[in-house]
Amino acid sequence: MAGRAPSRADVRQDFLVFGQPLIEQDEIDDVTDSMRKSWLGTGPKVAQFERDFAAYKGVPQAMALNSCTAALHLSLVALDLKPGDEVITTPMTFCATVNSILHAGGTPVLADVDARTMNIDPAEIRRKMGPRTRAVLPVHFAGRACDMDAIGTIAAERGTAIIEDCAHAIETEYKGRKAGTFGSFGCFSFYSTKNVVTGEGGMVIANDPRDADRIRVLGLHGMSKDAWKRFSDQGFKHYDVVEAGFKYNMMDLQAAIGIHQLARVERWWKRREEVWNRYQAAFADLPIGLPAPVEPGTRHAYHLYTILVDEKRAGISRDRFLDAMTAEKIGVGVHYRSVPEHPYYQRVLGWRPEDYPAAFRIGQQTVSLPISPKLSDSDVEDVISAVRRVIG
Ligand SMILES: Cc1ncc(COP(=O)(O)O)c(C=O)c1O
Repeated sequence: MAGRAPSRADVRQDFLVFGQPLIEQDEIDDVTDSMRKSWLGTGPKVAQFERDFAAYKGVPQAMALNSCTAALHLSLVALDLKPGDEVITTPMTFCATVNSILHAGGTPVLADVDARTMNIDPAEIRRKMGPRTRAVLPVHFAGRACDMDAIGTIAAERGTAIIEDCAHAIETEYKGRKAGTFGSFGCFSFYSTKNVVTGEGGMVIANDPRDADRIRVLGLHGMSKDAWKRFSDQGFKHYDVVEAGFKYNMMDLQAAIGIHQLARVERWWKRREEVWNRYQAAFADLPIGLPAPVEPGTRHAYHLYTILVDEKRAGISRDRFLDAMTAEKIGVGVHYRSVPEHPYYQRVLGWRPEDYPAAFRIGQQTVSLPISPKLSDSDVEDVISAVRRVIG
């Protein structure tokens, strides 16, 4: 193995868990308040969280759901895909992006990423466009804005919808416009490692108010709008089932966390930016790949800090690097092995990783280092020392 073996004095005492959220007293108090009031499910706190999120994004309304996967699924269901309709997305994403397309009855088609930005390459999207393409589903990977001008132009030429996977990209902006507002739908995640957390949770924003209304209905069994208010002190309200929907609603218990998390989103963004810049400076001389500089005119959400460990340059394989960091008591992640590496997609869709060479290479070399706002300065220095010892 490259580098030197850590001595007992070098290694931290406790394990630094990857992606730990920062939970403060306000969240704890508000969850307790929901429990004391016995209003656990969808209620006034979800409505408040939706209003706050819509205000943050500068849009008229936002629909809270129980995950970003649900947000992606419902956005795709709202496109009324027919068998054989294609949706183009990236191989450098979490499986949920692709699974949502399959569950909505569509055929996912992958367009390889730009090796530098790790985001879907617009030239590849153009190459993969066909007569059955109904939508493009870009992922703002790690929080870096996709090339929305180019994607918008291609989609407009072909009349295809855009659905943005903004799971990493709450704070992301492109030329002054906020991620999630470029196409028909923007989908956000509040999973425990994300920039704003609710444990599990998601949000969707829609460009067309009719789509927004439909998502609201689809997310709660297909029951007519505002069915969640049926047990309120305004008297029982009947509802109609107007579609076969899904059980995707967010609970007040989750929103009680999210409201306070969202209020701190900018403060924490600044902290992650500091950590990002510290890592960039501290690793500049190491034989590893670092994230590309942020494109001018965009705002990076700094959700993931990923390095590339190429065994030929670094003298250690990516997987041995992961083990060595764990031995250093530093939690690390892999975001992601490229989607075509997974056996399901190979078996059912015939995908081969080598057909997406940029994503394949990233997937073999990538490592995510901790970048949560919960990190203290000394945690950050521990990560840096551990990386430097392991790489040598
Ligand atoms: C790029 C991407 N898309 C979608 C998802 C799904 O989000 P959720 O866990 O909220 O369903 C994730 C979650 O990790 C993700 O990273």
